[in-house]
Amino acid sequence: MKEIAYSILSSDFSKLEDDLNIMLNSGVKYLHYDVMDGHFVNNISFGPHVLSTINKEHKLINDVHLMITNPRDYVEKFVLANADIITFHYEALKNDDDIDEIINLIHTYNCKCGLSIKPKTSVDKIFKFLNKLDLVLIMSVEPGFGGQSFIEETYKKIEVLDGFKKKYGLNFIIEVDGGVNNTNGKKILKSGANLLVCGSYLAKADHKKEAILSILGD
Ligand code: DX5
Ligand code: ZN
Repeated sequence: MKEIAYSILSSDFSKLEDDLNIMLNSGVKYLHYDVMDGHFVNNISFGPHVLSTINKEHKLINDVHLMITNPRDYVEKFVLANADIITFHYEALKNDDDIDEIINLIHTYNCKCGLSIKPKTSVDKIFKFLNKLDLVLIMSVEPGFGGQSFIEETYKKIEVLDGFKKKYGLNFIIEVDGGVNNTNGKKILKSGANLLVCGSYLAKADHKKEAILSILGD
C-alpha cells in the first residue's frame, strides 16, 4: 500500500469542504487530523467536535494524530466523533503499562490504534508494542506545526522499523509525518513507509492529482 493522508491543518478552514472534495476527487483516501493541546506541543489546533462536524459528509478514512499529554481521557470522544485510527505519542506516557492500557482501550472500541515517536526518539523504544499496533507514525519534523523541513535521519528509522516488521511478519502500517513533498516522497516509500502525511505541499499545489503523483510516483 502507498497512500497519502492529507493533513487538514494546512487548510483554510473557511473553505474546508471544498478542499476535502478536491482531495477526495484527486484520490486521497485518508484525512489526517492533528490534534494539539498547547501542552504536549506549543500549538493548539482542534478537538473532537471539529472531527465530528467534518465527518457528516465525506467517506475518507479518519486518521487522528493526538499530540496531547493525556490521550487516555480523549479516546472515547474521538471514537464517537468517527475516528477510524487513533494514534497517540510514546513520549506522552510515563511507562509501558500506560501505553499498553491505551492500546487496549482503543481496540475495545474496534478502532485502529497507532503509536507515534518524535524525531529524537529511537525506534527500538517501541519494539515491544509493535505486535499490538495497527500503525506506527514516525514524525519527520518536531510535532507542533505544519510547513517544516523533513529531517533526513528519518529514512534510517523507517528502514529499521520496516526491517523489524518483515523479520517478525507483522502487518502494521508505517506512516511518516512532516515535510513530505515531491522531493522526498518516493525515497520515504522506498525506505518502507506505506502512508505519507502531507499538509502544506498539497494545500499549496494548484493541481492536486499531479502533486499526489509527484509524491507517490506511479
Ligand atoms: C506536525 C503535524 C503534521 C503536519 C504536516 O505536528 O503532525 O501532520 O501538519 O504538515 P506538513 O506536510 O506541512 O509538514
Ligand atoms: Zn500529524
